[in-house]
Amino acid sequence: MNTQLTLGIETSCDETSVALVEDGRRVVSNVIHSQVDLHKDFGGVVPELAARDHLERLPQLLDLAFEKAGAGPEDVGLIAVTRGPGLAGCLLVGVGVAEGLSASWSRPLTGVNHLWGHIYAAMLTRPDLEPPLLGLVVSGAHSDLVRMPEHGRFEVIGRTRDDAAGEAFDKAARMLGLGYPGGPALDRLARTGDPRRQPLPKPSLPGLEFSFSGLKTALLYRLRDLGDAVTPQDKADLAAAFERSVVESLMEKLDEALSRTSVSDVVVAGGVAANTLLRRRTIEVVAGRARLTMPTLELCTDNAAMIAAAGFFGPARQTATVDPSLGWD
Ligand code: KG4
Ligand code: ZN
Repeated sequence: MNTQLTLGIETSCDETSVALVEDGRRVVSNVIHSQVDLHKDFGGVVPELAARDHLERLPQLLDLAFEKAGAGPEDVGLIAVTRGPGLAGCLLVGVGVAEGLSASWSRPLTGVNHLWGHIYAAMLTRPDLEPPLLGLVVSGAHSDLVRMPEHGRFEVIGRTRDDAAGEAFDKAARMLGLGYPGGPALDRLARTGDPRRQPLPKPSLPGLEFSFSGLKTALLYRLRDLGDAVTPQDKADLAAAFERSVVESLMEKLDEALSRTSVSDVVVAGGVAANTLLRRRTIEVVAGRARLTMPTLELCTDNAAMIAAAGFFGPARQTATVDPSLGWD
């Protein structure tokens, strides 16, 4: 193989991932190891365990990514690694390994903003997608509306005041006894419920801000009122109602952002963009107003292919200094 590939490395939270991407647009290999089994007994991510596991898994995932691609280190033109936001110890593992590879292979290294990565995942799904675009990134820690005027530049136009959408799903799932990881489990349960039987309020703030903590409290009180009398069907109905309130709140702001901005492309990305109802409603809201790109399910949740893509298109040789609380800049 004689093309120049970008090697992506992602270790910001509970997925260890290594990918090889061609021209920032074509996924050649993308291997992902989820730490769900490691953390599930604790009901959430244990940072020290996560960091140690990233370190143990990376060598074999690197081998696997190259094997699947039929490529070797000589084919790599750039190494892109997540530098933030995320868990400090986890980010340090990825950056440390990337720095080591960069030094031993004499290849340039670029530090990538994980949030940018979620948007760039859409360009792997639709290779002709270019900025300017309007993005909604909904993940475990973020619910942000952004404008992307050009490659490597983002302007936040809306965000959450409190919990992120994914965080809200995870907490609601815990209240419903679904354990970790909550979002996908709540999605599955909601499919068997009717949101009209246990309606919950739809959060509504002026402008483009989100808020999900009141909705979480409403669910808590409803479960408290039901007490021991709560049935499996009640839980399914509540899951459906909670999902509907979160999704409709996101849709209301996406709709407003679309009215305020004239863009021809919309991207909805991040782990929560894997949600069944959100995908369906997004298609309806954007229809006839812009072209919509949602990454494939595998590229919605954390993965290294999106990091490679963002590293390829972002400003050259960005610092790889770890910054756990990095914003969109
Ligand atoms: O983007 P991501 O993989 O990691 C972060 O950058 O945070 O997003 C993870 C979040 C978690 O909160 C998870 O519960 C949520 O995405 N999530 C979902 C679904 N799949 C993942 N939430 C609702 N429905 C889903 N199908
Ligand atoms: Zn993420």
